[in-house]
Amino acid sequence: MFSPPTGRGRGWVYISAILPSAIFPGLCYTPCVRAARVGTDPPQPLPAGGECGSMGLRVAAAETNYSSGGVDQMEMNSATVVKCLELIADAIHEQRQYLTDLDAAIGDGDHGINMDRGFSTVRARLESSSEKNIGAVLKLVGSTLVSTVGGASGPLYGTAFLRAGTALEGKESLTLDDVCAAMDAAVGGVMQRGKASTNEKTMLDALVPAQLALHKAMAGGASIALALSRAADAAEAGVKATIPMLATKGRASYLGERSIGHPDPGATSTALMLRTVANALAT
Ligand SMILES: Nc1ncnc2c1ncn2[C@@H]1O[C@H](COP(=O)(O)OP(=O)(O)O)[C@@H](O)[C@H]1O
Ligand SMILES: [Mg+2]
Repeated sequence: MFSPPTGRGRGWVYISAILPSAIFPGLCYTPCVRAARVGTDPPQPLPAGGECGSMGLRVAAAETNYSSGGVDQMEMNSATVVKCLELIADAIHEQRQYLTDLDAAIGDGDHGINMDRGFSTVRARLESSSEKNIGAVLKLVGSTLVSTVGGASGPLYGTAFLRAGTALEGKESLTLDDVCAAMDAAVGGVMQRGKASTNEKTMLDALVPAQLALHKAMAGGASIALALSRAADAAEAGVKATIPMLATKGRASYLGERSIGHPDPGATSTALMLRTVANALAT
């Protein structure tokens, strides 16, 4: 079972996921207590997100003393990457029921359970690893997801992390250029493995907009934190855009027209992961 981390330097961020209308349980995460962050300064309180809906998402904040993975810096070290992965595991665990409910509407109701099983194993394996090579860390994540998640999303997310790991082989610190290269490799892997593209109501409808947002941010000279924030925004917009889509790939495609009117679970888990990382890096 998940239990909140304790000890010096730990904080919490409470993020509300909005239910903006009666028909769409789309995601909007508003930090209401304290930003989850990875940086050198003490966490700053953020405005309460009182407008948000009933579903609370709680993400463990990162340790605050990262020497070179800092918030406004142009590089991200391996400790920061590992911390982000642990925070993703926490977020997936917190949201497992929501992801499963989304999958129950247009699939077989296992997405949250699948992802939680995979990322809790990732978390356990990272805890016993002192690996500094970010490529190797991401490959460990990928192989773990392939072997533990199951369903369609296991091989797809597994391939994404394996390809990202290959793109970052040997690196102990990442620039935004590296992050873009890893995202390009991940998206290419998902497309190839799933034989899918955008507008098919899959995780690609969150991943591809996020990829484009990362590149745009890089072209504009953004920090890694800002770029990830823009990527998370784009992924969340991508989730909303899946609602009116007809699923043409995966289990949801079996429903035909009845797949219309629901957000895609895989796109939602993609947006959740990116928002978690963006919050972890945010100032
Ligand atoms: N061919 C595909 N390409 C990309 N993503 C896919 C594909 N098929 C399914 N998905 C993603 O996987 C998600 C479902 O994951 P999950 O429920 O874990 O697997 P399953 O559908 O096998 O039960 C979908 O919401 C969708 O985002
Ligand atoms: Mg499923």
